[in-house]
Amino acid sequence: MALVTLKEILKEHDGAVGAFSTYDLFSAQGIIQGGEESGLPVILMIGHGPLNQPGNDYVGQIMVQLAREATVPACVFLDHSKDYATCMRAMKLGFSAVMIDGSHLPLEENIAITNKVTEAAHALGVSVEAELGALAGLEDGEEAKKAKMTDPAHVEEFLGKTSVDALAVSIGNAHGLYKGEPKLDFERLSTIEKISHGVPLVLHGGTGLTPEQFARGVQRGIKKINIGTEVKTTYIGAFIDTHEKNVSAYDMVGIPQACKNAVAAMVRDKLEFFARGYRDLIV
Ligand code: 13P
Repeated sequence: MALVTLKEILKEHDGAVGAFSTYDLFSAQGIIQGGEESGLPVILMIGHGPLNQPGNDYVGQIMVQLAREATVPACVFLDHSKDYATCMRAMKLGFSAVMIDGSHLPLEENIAITNKVTEAAHALGVSVEAELGALAGLEDGEEAKKAKMTDPAHVEEFLGKTSVDALAVSIGNAHGLYKGEPKLDFERLSTIEKISHGVPLVLHGGTGLTPEQFARGVQRGIKKINIGTEVKTTYIGAFIDTHEKNVSAYDMVGIPQACKNAVAAMVRDKLEFFARGYRDLIV
């Protein structure tokens, strides 16, 4: 039984823990395998959209089962839920953490929905992540990005009025593939860290950030790093390569295994870097 909450997994760790998007059986197995190969704690996450696809309760159940059987601590996490109902659904499936993302709402409404979810989650021993400041989109210019960044004044008020277990911040990070070199506002992150009183901070949009940026983030309070797009590019890349090696085989046994192993290798390397490797890059 290695299913643990977000609160537990982030507490027992020096550096940061990687959280990886899950889509199906083979990505879930690959993420767990990567955790076991590294001997490090790992977070399996599934987005609100994917979990709500018809039939995908089974993917949630597989994630929970694999986490329970893992030889390393594993947290099963609902990513970016915009509503209470999906959080409740995840908890019913046995998830050990949920994210309620009210970052698009006015501050008071974000606090209200976060508290509603936290009350239910904590009563069930489930951890909660919230978000302040929206993540920039790919097409956003510098001005739009700045406008969406986490406002440190909001952090104090938000953390004073909620009891979340982790807080996602917006410091120039974005989901998907970055257009050009991503620029992160580390000064803002340092300010947020000082006023967050030890509440672990979360960096979304991990795909495409440089090792130096991860290291600087971890140095300033980032305890969880989300990787989504790189799971997809790794998985689909392995799918295409394996299929193209022997097209006529339509190898429904070998191709998923190759996808799983490729995801595992990527996850293992990321976990090792977030836990230890980053230290070599701290200046
Ligand atoms: P990327 O897809 O950019 O890695 O971001 C994933 C993420 O932050 C999911 O919440």
